[in-house]
Amino acid sequence: MNSVDNLENATKQRFRCIPVPPARHVPGIEEDARNGLLSRPRSLPPKYFYDDRGSELFERICKTSDYYPTRTEDFLLRQHAQDIIQKIQPSRIFELGSGSSVKTQRLLDACNEIAHFPSYTAFDISEHALLFGGETLSNRYAWLEINLLLGDYEAGFNHIPRENGSRLILFLGSTIGNFEQDRAVRFMNDLRANMSSNDRLLVGFDRVKDARILNAAYNDKEGVTAAFNLNILNVLNNELSANFDPENFKHSAYYDTEKSQVEMHLISSCTHLVTLSTLGTTIEIRTGERIRTEISRKFTNKSLHNLLGQAELDVEQDFVSSDGYFSLVLAKLV
Ligand code: SAH
Ligand code: TRP
Repeated sequence: MNSVDNLENATKQRFRCIPVPPARHVPGIEEDARNGLLSRPRSLPPKYFYDDRGSELFERICKTSDYYPTRTEDFLLRQHAQDIIQKIQPSRIFELGSGSSVKTQRLLDACNEIAHFPSYTAFDISEHALLFGGETLSNRYAWLEINLLLGDYEAGFNHIPRENGSRLILFLGSTIGNFEQDRAVRFMNDLRANMSSNDRLLVGFDRVKDARILNAAYNDKEGVTAAFNLNILNVLNNELSANFDPENFKHSAYYDTEKSQVEMHLISSCTHLVTLSTLGTTIEIRTGERIRTEISRKFTNKSLHNLLGQAELDVEQDFVSSDGYFSLVLAKLV
């Protein structure tokens, strides 16, 4: 057993991830792969990136010099955390897609500084990330009551308890940009339906900018993003008894200026057969064929207001970084 397994076993005894039952049907990996991989253009939903290795690779992406969003959002949080906590005085911080909860620490540090002690709930699809984040936070903040919720946030929030006091709901990392517009609106609508007038939502939005900066951010020099993108094939191999050979694919990410989105693909470098045993099928993938694995939309003032507005949420404050690269938007019920 290696040290990571040791940590995980020790952590599992201290924390339990509570499964969140889906409030509506969401397709599982079999249905998603059937719909996405057996039709053209081939695509996969991005939630399958986050197996244990994927979650670790994502943490490494965040630390690369090319990937500016994490450090820009982190800096904004350091700048504004005290004001935000002071103003909202949340009784709970509720974080969606929390990952390793690193940036959350800026808000919890601010809580420490002004001696305001909320509880914390993290909701993520990756048990590995939840346990790692929970362990890190509990070591740093002795006062913090932590709840870990394991589930798919696209399945709605009907089973998420509300709070008597006020909640500060976090959705960081511009993860909202990984949804197509209609799914982003549905997600925000679901969330709004779970909010009360005292709650505030803090969302990270990556902004439209020079294509060179965006292309570099999703093609980091160390190749971590490439490894992260290719790892989704290992997830398919494990979950669907498939035999994708990652060596047959190349990572591709480029900014589409017209659509204001980065598109991530895996491109096949040869014509080959792949068997997906669980689906009982074999597919031929030709040279140059693509599997779309992710979009990452970039926002303008107008498009982010439009998205929140469609979900009947009002922008209360927009904290924009001085380079204009990233926004942290505080929103409330209309
Ligand atoms: N908030 C962190 C992590 C962002 S990465 C940051 O800003 O750095 C996206 C996170 O969302 C991952 O931890 C992933 O496991 C989680 N996630 C992705 N799809 C999800 C889904 N459908 N339901 C719940 N969590 C999901
Ligand atoms: N929310 C992040 C983003 O859109 C997710 C992300 C970063 C990502 N790098 C990636 C997803 C590489 C897939 C591949 O920036």
